[in-house]
Amino acid sequence: MISAKMAKALNEQINAELYSSYLYLAMSAYFEATNFKGFAAWMKIQSSEEYEHAMKIYNYLIQVGARVKLAVLEKPNEEWKSPLAVFEDAHKHELYITDRINKLANQAVAEQDHATNIFLHWFVNEQIEEVASITLIIEKFNMIGDNKSALFILDRELGMRAKA
Ligand code: FEO
Repeated sequence: MISAKMAKALNEQINAELYSSYLYLAMSAYFEATNFKGFAAWMKIQSSEEYEHAMKIYNYLIQVGARVKLAVLEKPNEEWKSPLAVFEDAHKHELYITDRINKLANQAVAEQDHATNIFLHWFVNEQIEEVASITLIIEKFNMIGDNKSALFILDRELGMRAKA
């Protein structure tokens, strides 16, 4: 059994992961509307991965005998000024999620909750990967600059992302 405080924090993280899923789906819809089908496909896969992150925590809470409590999801943004602006927002969002995960891990350590601490290791590693992959995409956008053909090539490249 985990503490009530830890269960509350993990429930809040379910909400943050579901919001991530919602945000990336909104980004995917923006790309669909602006005809960047590859970026849209990439964001749709990202969205479903975030849903899986939420479900990992959902299942963990059930496994340790805690109550899952779902809350309201914030409305995500729906317009951006450019494809780069979308990925910059995604990057900012992942840094925010990383900070949340680190705080959860700190709490687990402080409570000497070894099970939750070990459970959170997967998320700590996942955040390194997510921040790195979005950083790389932003670097590619910066290399491209105003080159439209290169932008279409990047759209095609990201569209080839396979589901994990
Ligand atoms: Fe589930 Fe992208 O953090």
